[in-house]
Amino acid sequence: YADSELASSAVATQIADLIRARAAEGKPCVLGLATGSSPTRVYEELVRLHQEEGLSFQNVISFNLDEYYPMAPDSLQSYVRFMHEYLFDHVDIRPENVHIPDGTVPADQIAEFCRRYEEQIQEAGGIDLQLLGIGRTGHIGFNEPGSGPASRTRLITLDHVTRTDAASDFYGEENVPRRAMTMGVGTILEARQIVLLAWGEGKAAVVKRMIEGDVTDSVPATYLQRHPAVQVVLDEAAGAELTP
Ligand code: F6R
Repeated sequence: YADSELASSAVATQIADLIRARAAEGKPCVLGLATGSSPTRVYEELVRLHQEEGLSFQNVISFNLDEYYPMAPDSLQSYVRFMHEYLFDHVDIRPENVHIPDGTVPADQIAEFCRRYEEQIQEAGGIDLQLLGIGRTGHIGFNEPGSGPASRTRLITLDHVTRTDAASDFYGEENVPRRAMTMGVGTILEARQIVLLAWGEGKAAVVKRMIEGDVTDSVPATYLQRHPAVQVVLDEAAGAELTP
């Protein structure tokens, strides 16, 4: 796409069409959602479609990819707060249908929480559409380099590059949590459809590696090459290094 605004509104339309198609069949629409700067315009457009064009989220069940650990839900940097601010507070999604990894779970209960998160995805019928961004390390969710294709929802250690990129949100790298909870690469690959967004020249190098590089756990996003239904949605700057 010429720019991220056009791209975001096309993605929002696609998600809205899926929600409506599922509703017409009397079925839930299970969305895997991402945070960060990449999806914000998609969420803004979904809010507009709800407010101006009657798009309902009553049949939507959502599972967010990740959350810092530890993280209080009301904290400025929490992904719970992010999702409410950009989407959930402005649409008619049922609160009981929203799932976000809980950054307050006691350390000795994390494994059980993550096992249950996977189970809840299965109980909802699996993810219909997973929205992703990509980190400069090649992470999807917070699956940093070293994350394999069989990895599941778990506690991980954030890469130094990721913590540097998050530093401004936390007023200094020393304040960025060292760990996070994330769906695994294996969890993500089970989604029926995947839509990955990347904007700007800062993503151009990792986008090229994801699409043209060998599949390797050094760049976990390369595992998307093995998925049968992935769309990579780019603005011109993010696609600038791809082989023409
Ligand atoms: C966020 C997430 C991350 C981000 C990635 C890109 O929930 O899972 O993988 O998508 O770090 O972040 P932005 O969009 O801020 O460049």
